[in-house]
Amino acid sequence: MAMMYSEKVMEHFSNPRNVGEIENADGVGEVGNAKCGDIMKIYMKINGDTVEDVKFKTFGCGAAIATSSMATELIKGKKIDDVLKLTNKAVVEALDGLPSIKLHCSVLAEQAVKSALSDYYRRQGIDPVPIVGEIVDEDETDIGSCALAFSK
Ligand code: FES
Repeated sequence: MAMMYSEKVMEHFSNPRNVGEIENADGVGEVGNAKCGDIMKIYMKINGDTVEDVKFKTFGCGAAIATSSMATELIKGKKIDDVLKLTNKAVVEALDGLPSIKLHCSVLAEQAVKSALSDYYRRQGIDPVPIVGEIVDEDETDIGSCALAFSK
């Protein structure tokens, strides 16, 4: 049975925005999902209270690439306060949905953004936890269906 992806997911997967690295980034975040092995890295250029530029590298499934692409589009040029409010749900909605067995991929995108902001605060000697919260690195959330996702 083929999985149904929205046109937006397919479009962002085929033509991902903001792919690459930022040299001398102000914050770099990397998260991985221990079970599927996918890794997402996000680079941010921050000017004052604004995320001026953002790029990503995702070593992962199509949904992870599409959610990274959309997440970067949603936060580029935004104030840090607004970026902190980014949820995986907002990313999924902006992509017109994801199959339920691929929802964990969007969690990776939310965590990668938060991880980059945490790095930014840490570099300034500020404890990021009260601002950004805990990062779910090496995400151990239940993705029992992940292997199944690969076979489709
Ligand atoms: Fe691992 Fe999508 S992030 S299957």
